[in-house]
Amino acid sequence: MKNLSVETLCVQAGYEPKNGEPRVAPIYQSTTYKYDSADEVAALFDLEAEGHMYSRISNPGLDVLEKKIAALEGGKAALSTSSGQAANLLSILTLCKAGDHVVSFNNLYGGTFTLLNSTLKNFEIESTLLDIDSTDEEIEAAIQDNTKLLFGEVLGNPGLRVLDIERVAKIAHKNGIPLIVDNTFPTPYLCRPIEYGADIVTHSTTKYLDGHATSLGGVIVDSGNFNWENGKFNCLTDKDPNYHGLSYTETFKDLAYITRARVVFMRDMGFTMSPFNAFLTNLGTETLALRMDRHSENALKIARYLEKSPNVAWINYPGLESSEDHELAKKYLPKGASGIISFGVKGGVEEGKKFIDSLKLATLVVHVGDIRTHVLHPASMTHRQLSKEEQLLAGIKENMIRLSVGIENADEIISDLEQALEKSQRD
Ligand SMILES: Cc1ncc(COP(=O)(O)O)c(C=O)c1O
Repeated sequence: MKNLSVETLCVQAGYEPKNGEPRVAPIYQSTTYKYDSADEVAALFDLEAEGHMYSRISNPGLDVLEKKIAALEGGKAALSTSSGQAANLLSILTLCKAGDHVVSFNNLYGGTFTLLNSTLKNFEIESTLLDIDSTDEEIEAAIQDNTKLLFGEVLGNPGLRVLDIERVAKIAHKNGIPLIVDNTFPTPYLCRPIEYGADIVTHSTTKYLDGHATSLGGVIVDSGNFNWENGKFNCLTDKDPNYHGLSYTETFKDLAYITRARVVFMRDMGFTMSPFNAFLTNLGTETLALRMDRHSENALKIARYLEKSPNVAWINYPGLESSEDHELAKKYLPKGASGIISFGVKGGVEEGKKFIDSLKLATLVVHVGDIRTHVLHPASMTHRQLSKEEQLLAGIKENMIRLSVGIENADEIISDLEQALEKSQRD
């Protein structure tokens, strides 16, 4: 399906039924696949033939979702995972072993922050976390001989800083390393990072791609554009004894990265998405374009209201002219700045708590990016594991409320916020 718009790809990509086959991609609830000869199965094990052999590694239903998201992102191929965190971890492990190093921007989702800043360090994969406002020179200075990738979130959770993808991709490429971006908050409907030079894109599909808060999942998309044969990526160019001396770049060319992710890490570690979650996520993606328009439209209207409210101390929404990243948002998010707003209730943490407890329509849930409006207090919830200093590095203010704007009627969401803001200021 070449040259089709994102709107059409959301509905049509990934599955083209043949005559008499189900119109809707089925759920393949099977762990195994039947073959007629031992040689055929041996060829699958040796990566000499294409096909499914065991659902930990691949499954026809997951394949539909992977093909669709690869098409949406404008990538070559994708690998689905059991969660967004599995996607981020696997995207890094595919290139890094003990002794290697990652450079990342620090305005990250809490789980990714601790993954890089703590968990991976236990496996001797080091990282340098940079301020998103770092200059080109500062970013280059952080890149070492053993640095294997640059990592960032396109729209950071929850600080909502916008990554200057084109600028940082150029720096990464100048230094012979790929740029991996987590595109969870914009989704490929609002931003396609590969068009600006990103090499690998990850998602927590749990958020807008599913969109209905039913299914955990993640995905890694490979642009197929990065040249791995620059002497830095032996894991992809050298012979792998586990596959009888095969070299991923020689055998799989521009699919070297995503193939290694699947046949080494998915095979050995098993972060597999379930067939049912793939089905529900695919169903979600069908309405992604409609939902993202509505999320963005509602969020902008609500952000404009919050900006004027006397009970709001500060607000950040990249769609607002007052946002420090508004110019970047105009470039990278021209169709809308997604549905998430961060703001502080006038007063402090106590007023913030009163606000959350007074909401009626919006609910308190540990989630973001689904059709319902909800709120969360990052400092005491998603980013709780971070020290106060780390929270500040990640852009978390103590009184920050993360508002995930749903697709309900915007005026009704505003009424709910208004009554809760008023209550937050009473004794
Ligand atoms: C930007 C971002 N990346 C990754 C994740 C992790 O995704 P999951 O919860 O699916 O593991 C999240 C979760 O909130 C996120 O917001």
